[in-house]
Amino acid sequence: MIEILPIFTNSPLRNYSYLVYSNRTGEAYCIDPFDAKQILNHSQKLGVRIKGILNTHEHGDHTQGNLELKEETKAVVYGHKNAKDKIPGLDQILKEGDLVFSVEEESLTAWDTPGHTFSHLSFVWKNPKTILGIFSGDTLFNAGVGNCFRGGDPSVLYETIQSRFETLPDSCFLYPGHDYWENNLKFSEHIDPENPFRYQFKESLKPFQISEMGSEKKLNPFFRRNTNSVKERLTELKETFTNDRSVFLTLRKLRDQW
Ligand SMILES: [Fe+2]
Repeated sequence: MIEILPIFTNSPLRNYSYLVYSNRTGEAYCIDPFDAKQILNHSQKLGVRIKGILNTHEHGDHTQGNLELKEETKAVVYGHKNAKDKIPGLDQILKEGDLVFSVEEESLTAWDTPGHTFSHLSFVWKNPKTILGIFSGDTLFNAGVGNCFRGGDPSVLYETIQSRFETLPDSCFLYPGHDYWENNLKFSEHIDPENPFRYQFKESLKPFQISEMGSEKKLNPFFRRNTNSVKERLTELKETFTNDRSVFLTLRKLRDQW
């Protein structure tokens, strides 16, 4: 069985790093190391050895722990080919469908998920029956999606969200690159005022809650772009849109300006 430990760093960016590990084999992979010492502490407590460092993308807040963690553990650093010269210590390229780690029937594989940048991977945890979880970096957040200011394209992000993330099963856990619950729920209140699920959900929301895609589909305004609540609000804000893509792009633009 594969186990997951989310590691929150109390920086203004509210980054998450993750340890993906097996108690049976004692192996671990670290996704997006932020604070190498904090990660080493956790891996020692768990009694696992970090074999690999997996970077979802090249931005500094997702790679800043690479070199120190590599030095301490001799782990192999993995990333997207388009980030070859941007990821510190990069050893090995991962492409769509590459297997990173497997334990018994469970595995972790790479998805190529462009949009936030053009060198963005997500990591999918699955068993033969279903997808159990996704490490989405800065592509999909709780109740929001990533911005495209630094090397991305919102139209490509739309395609990735629509063709990949919206197909995930409701039971799939979402492990994003940052904890943006608070801000994203505020934007949701602004842009999706008539969402009854949000009121209900907020009552039971715990700090650092890990959610499932079923909740995200009911909460995230980018997933709810075809609802009356969102569309009527956009019309009220005098936004024009013609199709599914343009609703998404309008939401992304409004979130950028918000
Ligand atoms: Fe980023």
